[in-house]
Amino acid sequence: MRIQGGKILTADGPVPADVHVAGENIVAVTAPGQDPSASQEPSRTTFDATGRWVLPGAVDAHTHFGMPLAGGLRSLGWRESSTAALLGGTTTVVDFANPLPGEPLLDTVARWRTMADGRILCDYGLHATITDTDPARLREIPALVRQGVPTFKGFLAYKGRLMLTTAQMSALMTAVSHAEAMLLVHAEDGESNAAAEQLLLDTGRSAPRWHPLAHPEDSEVQAVAQAIALAQTAGCPLLIVHLSTAGALAHVRRARQERTGSSPLVLGEVCLHHLFADAGRYVAGHEAALAAICSPPLRPANHGSALLAGLATGDIELLSTDHCEFALSDKLAAAVGGFPRVPNGCGSVGERLVFSHALAVAPGRLDPFRWQEVCCRLPAAHMGLGERKGRLALGHDADVVLFDPDAEYRWEPLGASDRAGSLWAGQPVKGRVTDVWLRGQQVVADGQLCPRQPGGTFLARTLSPPAEGR
Ligand code: URP
Ligand code: ZN
Ligand code: ZN
Repeated sequence: MRIQGGKILTADGPVPADVHVAGENIVAVTAPGQDPSASQEPSRTTFDATGRWVLPGAVDAHTHFGMPLAGGLRSLGWRESSTAALLGGTTTVVDFANPLPGEPLLDTVARWRTMADGRILCDYGLHATITDTDPARLREIPALVRQGVPTFKGFLAYKGRLMLTTAQMSALMTAVSHAEAMLLVHAEDGESNAAAEQLLLDTGRSAPRWHPLAHPEDSEVQAVAQAIALAQTAGCPLLIVHLSTAGALAHVRRARQERTGSSPLVLGEVCLHHLFADAGRYVAGHEAALAAICSPPLRPANHGSALLAGLATGDIELLSTDHCEFALSDKLAAAVGGFPRVPNGCGSVGERLVFSHALAVAPGRLDPFRWQEVCCRLPAAHMGLGERKGRLALGHDADVVLFDPDAEYRWEPLGASDRAGSLWAGQPVKGRVTDVWLRGQQVVADGQLCPRQPGGTFLARTLSPPAEGR
């Protein structure tokens, strides 16, 4: 098949080109009308992409599909969340496998795959969350790396549940470093947050609007500094996930600028809601506050501007979502017990391309090529998927998105996403995902999910050394 008439995004701007697909792969990207090289069959069928940008399928390095919580709640499921992903132009996600107490990590990953396989419609990889740093557990890390799970997440936040002490975090980083893997850190200081939360509750402030005060900005700033210092001591490649403050970004920027040949890679990730939704939501009524309950919380808008500038200049290399969607009805029911009981998370996996285009690319705050880099190539490369995903390149999976940059309309959540709980519903946007292919098969046609779906597959990932393109 030849996808013709569209423009690919290059460092020099949008350029007319044809993308040639055979089976599950891209076999050539040529000038308009040109055939692939003599050794390849000319494309027999054509698809008209006139007026659209032709992008690689986007890669979201941070999602929580169907995540079970204590008490029987579960975030929006694998089928529903992956439907929103495909409709929004994301063909690959990397989700988190969370262990049960005492569970061997290989069993956790196997259990998570059982939940995803047969349900998920986009391709997926898994990070493993580490909450137990018993030496026996840490010795399992190399086996996970060999099975294609080379990224782990540790928490400095959530005291009494997921939080690791400094000593535990150091032990985890040493183990991850020895396994040539990468650690993702949720960097908020769990002690500070717990103290702030207790003070709020002791003084009768348990309504949802108080949630952000239990997550002080400085708690993130200090935790990011600590995570970087510990990673540098352990020689552990580090990704600070869901950066939400300008101060935290400054620590990431400094670590990257001052990096020497022997110091580990430090990466920063920003999520859509921390760029484009702000703390005003917490004082816009009970339901608006509930919809915005996530951790780290939404911040005043100046932080979003600083983070967007960081994305544009290269201080931040991944634009993700932390998609973890709960229906507003579930948040409302939980809120009766006070804000600490409310499940944390927002849904954005279907919104990432359109909203970042509408609010950053279209107004000239983010170059279109950089937008494609942070949504597609860089997450793929950093997650160990750079050989297959994130680029329109010879031999890559034929994950292709047609994006109309001129379409203007009001946003409605995709698929089964909950309108009442959405941070995004009803906003005017510019840009629409019209057609999507996953490994050569069309999965979205004219904005609608195709009835025949190939289904997503588990992706075993291998990190490449930073010198080779990470
Ligand atoms: O509020 C959030 N972010 N929920 C998902 C879990 C996490 O910490 O990433
Ligand atoms: Zn987190
Ligand atoms: Zn998360």
